[in-house]
Amino acid sequence: MPGLALPRPGQTLNRSTLRTTRPLSPMTPKFTSRLLAAAGLFAGVFFTTAQVAAADKPVVGFSQIGAESAWRTANTDSIKGEAAKRGITLKFADAQQKQENQIKALRSFIAQNVDVIAFSPVVETGWEPVLREIKKAGIPVILTDRAVKVSDPSLFVTFVGSDFVEEGRRAGKWLVEKTKGQAVIAELVGTPGSAPAIDRKKGFEEAIAGQAGMKIIKSQSGDFTRAKGKEVMETFLKSPEGKSINVLYAHNDDMALGAIQAIEEAGLKPGTDIVIVSIDGVKGAFEAMVAGKLNCTVECNPLIGAQLFDLVADVVAGKTLPKRIAVEEGLYDQSQAAAALPSRQY
Ligand code: AHR
Repeated sequence: MPGLALPRPGQTLNRSTLRTTRPLSPMTPKFTSRLLAAAGLFAGVFFTTAQVAAADKPVVGFSQIGAESAWRTANTDSIKGEAAKRGITLKFADAQQKQENQIKALRSFIAQNVDVIAFSPVVETGWEPVLREIKKAGIPVILTDRAVKVSDPSLFVTFVGSDFVEEGRRAGKWLVEKTKGQAVIAELVGTPGSAPAIDRKKGFEEAIAGQAGMKIIKSQSGDFTRAKGKEVMETFLKSPEGKSINVLYAHNDDMALGAIQAIEEAGLKPGTDIVIVSIDGVKGAFEAMVAGKLNCTVECNPLIGAQLFDLVADVVAGKTLPKRIAVEEGLYDQSQAAAALPSRQY
């Protein structure tokens, strides 16, 4: 049996004991099972059902952006929870919002010989070299949540996540109706260079284009965090134009929740003096809507763990997948908040 390393009697059975090649072909799961069976017979050792089941599942490396928002925490929990439920070994790395940390994690997944790599890229660009290394190692890549800009689409198999442009459009359309086309807008932008920051800005601007009475007078990054959202909103309000701001568009709920604090500390009423629309649909946003402090949140669903591991199974089985897989999402305003709050999962 060429290339097969057999376990020594008494040696712990794991995937690297049994796999010496990287069979990223449609045969992978069957191939692994065959190796298991063969190795067991050959070595004359017996394995428990659980050992065999675990060894027959793909090992997945996942590089997460960080823990910058409630949305991200829910996303991490969904992915970790689903892996545990399915008995899949998940090598999880938190990049603390730094691309260089993500690149290091991806390289370590290559070194660890995982079967599939999934990651949520903090920014859109700068991934080609590491993605080429992964491709050379024969490991398929699934992108989650945020997309990348690459010249070669074969560097990843598929992307599962939200349509951020549409989310921005929904926020803008809602605002046009709510304000009847009259608004002096401050915008809290997400992480610079990230897909949601770029796309949510684009979609929103598209939706308000042609509304002569709607103007974005301030636009700055709050890095998707509550602390930064508060800090930047304070600066907006203290600026010479601060008094004229009557709308806040925040690219996520965490920044909006931080801004709400800043607005209150400035002696204003969030949700009344300043109409606020944001994106994500986290529980905190629903609570703020019930309290009348936030006006609308556009849903961005972080609960993609089950979808991700279905895709991992498909990829390992060699199925052809669409290049982009969307997540279903809605929009909620204050009138729906109290009824929806008890059933919010994140
Ligand atoms: O990429 C999704 C965005 O990232 C969410 O809107 C935000 O809360 C998170 O940090």
